[in-house]
Amino acid sequence: MTTAKVLTLGSLNLDFIYRVDHIVASGETIGAGDVQTRCGGKGLNQSIALARGGADVAHAGIVGADGDMLLDICRESGVDVSRVRVDEGRSGHAIIQVDSRGQNSIILFGGTNRAVTQDYIDRALDGYGAGDVIVLQNEINMLPQVIAAAAARGMRVVLNPSPYDDRIDECDLGLVWLFFVNEIEGEQLTGESEPARILDVFAERYPKANVVLTLGSEGAVAQFGGERFEQPIIPTTAVDTTGAGDTFTGFFLAEYLRGGDVARAMLTAVQASSIAVSRAGAAPSIPTLAEVRAALEARAE
Ligand code: ATP
Ligand code: RIB
Repeated sequence: MTTAKVLTLGSLNLDFIYRVDHIVASGETIGAGDVQTRCGGKGLNQSIALARGGADVAHAGIVGADGDMLLDICRESGVDVSRVRVDEGRSGHAIIQVDSRGQNSIILFGGTNRAVTQDYIDRALDGYGAGDVIVLQNEINMLPQVIAAAAARGMRVVLNPSPYDDRIDECDLGLVWLFFVNEIEGEQLTGESEPARILDVFAERYPKANVVLTLGSEGAVAQFGGERFEQPIIPTTAVDTTGAGDTFTGFFLAEYLRGGDVARAMLTAVQASSIAVSRAGAAPSIPTLAEVRAALEARAE
């Protein structure tokens, strides 16, 4: 199997990460023990995970004049950013609380992530065609138009419908080749809460699509070409779970596109995301393929 070209058209965010004892409740004021500015955004995280996982990946999206560090981390990780546009406005950002158990709560500000136009979509997709892969999330505007334009070129559409909102309902989900959903998005899309039932509904509604359902500390299940797969987590001490799903997505795809082996892609992805949750931050926590392979080899000994 030859490695496909991958394009992510997605968000790039500055993550303002506040370390707190617990997630603040309505009406409550709490102090933060620490604050850090780090690179994130579901699109950027997934591009970096793809690149560190060994895929040939370019990122398209829009940053503001404050976006230098976002472009720098992409370049350092091997992501082609020649299609990223720099605008006058402010880059997207996320205000993230991380509690003592590593769990998070996030407020998103779209900023320049939401300045996508049809003209920009056409330029970003120029040169891509049949068999190439596009990776999408729901932190940019014009998502339905991006899906339609990519599918019209014969690209394989990968969708992580996160964060889920009404705009997902405007998309033609019948054009999606591979979904990545967590339990919450799986329930929002299907009305079912049991993992097996979520996969059943995907099979009924989107018979041509594949789906990977991540289950947090319960691991992940997948349905590929009608076959089902299960993969438990690789246990670790959770420091910060932000970006665990993005790391999973990037490493799964990179491994799958290399060899077409779903079980191996699941194992590689749980190892990569286990390392990511053991470290702070979203993009900075994403391991390299060498680290992931060394960890898998150490486990096999
Ligand atoms: P996020 O939105 O924070 O990026 P998500 O909700 O999309 O995450 P999850 O299902 O929470 O995704 O996690 C993705 C994967 O990360 C899981 O399938 C699992 O392999 C790994 N993971 C998550 N939590 C843990 C944990 N506590 N220990 C080890 N691995 C974990
Ligand atoms: O999936 C994690 C990401 O969600 C964070 O990096 C933050 O930017 C939000 O988009």
